[in-house]
Amino acid sequence: MKILAINGPNLNMLGRRDAAHYGSDTLAAIEQKLTEKGKALDCQLTFFQSNHEGDIIDFIQEKAGGADGILINPGALTHYGYSLHDALVDAGLPIIEVHLSDINTREEWRKISVISDLAIKQVSGLKTESYLAGLEALAEYIRSRKPK
Ligand code: DQA
Repeated sequence: MKILAINGPNLNMLGRRDAAHYGSDTLAAIEQKLTEKGKALDCQLTFFQSNHEGDIIDFIQEKAGGADGILINPGALTHYGYSLHDALVDAGLPIIEVHLSDINTREEWRKISVISDLAIKQVSGLKTESYLAGLEALAEYIRSRKPK
């Protein structure tokens, strides 16, 4: 299984962001843990992070054709990223939305996700574990749909 693991704005700063919300792992550490989990789940991950919505869209347009699913933490684009939303629709792939913090118990504006209607599942509030649980759910979903 080929998975695109995408991170949006400011997630390159993990390790220096508020640990109470986001934990203390750097993005590199999270990606390392995902790679290890991916091996156990027979998933090959391609990582991408950008602070720019257009760059994320370019990546999705370029890579979706060769992929089986998308694991994405859109960062603040979660709350207003309509172009990202449309690129994810066009990708036509199963999507899992993940968040380190619990977006449903923070500011009102964070409770809104313009991505969640596309996602098989939203995993939120488990810090690094959100990504690992998200990858597991995505792999399980893809496997259940593949012809045996
Ligand atoms: C986040 C939550 C967003 O509201 C925030 O803008 C982020 C990270 C999370 O992982 O908890 O940058 O997606």
